[in-house]
Amino acid sequence: MKSRKSGVSRVSTGIASLNKLVGGFKEKSINLVIGGAGSGKTIMAMQFLIDGIKKGEKGVYITFEEKKDKTYSDMLSFGLDLEKYEKENKFVFFEYTPEQVKRIITEGGGEIESIIEKIKARRIVIDSISSFVLLYKDELARREAALFLFELINKWNCTALLTAQVIEEEKIFSELGFEVDSIIILYHAKRKGIRKRGLEILKMRGTKIPQKTFPFEITNKGIVVNTRGIFII
Ligand SMILES: Nc1ncnc2c1ncn2[C@@H]1O[C@H](COP(=O)(O)OP(=O)(O)O)[C@@H](O)[C@H]1O
Ligand SMILES: [Mg+2]
Repeated sequence: MKSRKSGVSRVSTGIASLNKLVGGFKEKSINLVIGGAGSGKTIMAMQFLIDGIKKGEKGVYITFEEKKDKTYSDMLSFGLDLEKYEKENKFVFFEYTPEQVKRIITEGGGEIESIIEKIKARRIVIDSISSFVLLYKDELARREAALFLFELINKWNCTALLTAQVIEEEKIFSELGFEVDSIIILYHAKRKGIRKRGLEILKMRGTKIPQKTFPFEITNKGIVVNTRGIFII
């Protein structure tokens, strides 16, 4: 359910332990999840969408990188049946090229907007935004495109989760970091031959955020953050 913290409505992130730390995402906010390959971005994004569906908030997932069949079977291992929700018109999976999204955005929403309005979606994921941002050559153009996209998301009354690959971390920070409402970093770092996962809340507007980076695990129920631990590598 929606909860109130710091005077604004919050929506569940889909991860109980993360909700405990920050109270959830702000309703209608734009949230950026940054991490390398295999860090858990897609799992987090899907947990966010399915959580919404279970609470009556329909979801739209837009991807440039993930394949539908593969994603559906991967998510089944967490007990998330995307096919079922798709058949019930509660969930839509869009596989686009970055160029297609660029065109749709230039058109002011196009096909994406029609579907969002048709099913009355309240949550949207773009996984990942990196390749889209890189379509634009200079920083100003990237920033403008991102702002335009964010304005569309606001118009659609959706709470958004955008993922970004870490390779362009510096660029993503300078181009998107100031515009989004929150930034979460997923680490998957190796020390002495062992990789560990960590989650850091780098920014969340209007929210007191923890100073610590937390260890987390991917279990058969999805992401579980150890809110008592500290991620040290
Ligand atoms: N059922 C599962 N149990 C535990 N770990 C899993 C499970 N399914 C996937 N994973 C882990 O999650 C990782 C992929 O997460 P994913 O969200 O796809 O990463 P990203 O989107 O950041 O590339 C895999 O590399 C694997 O280690
Ligand atoms: Mg992914």
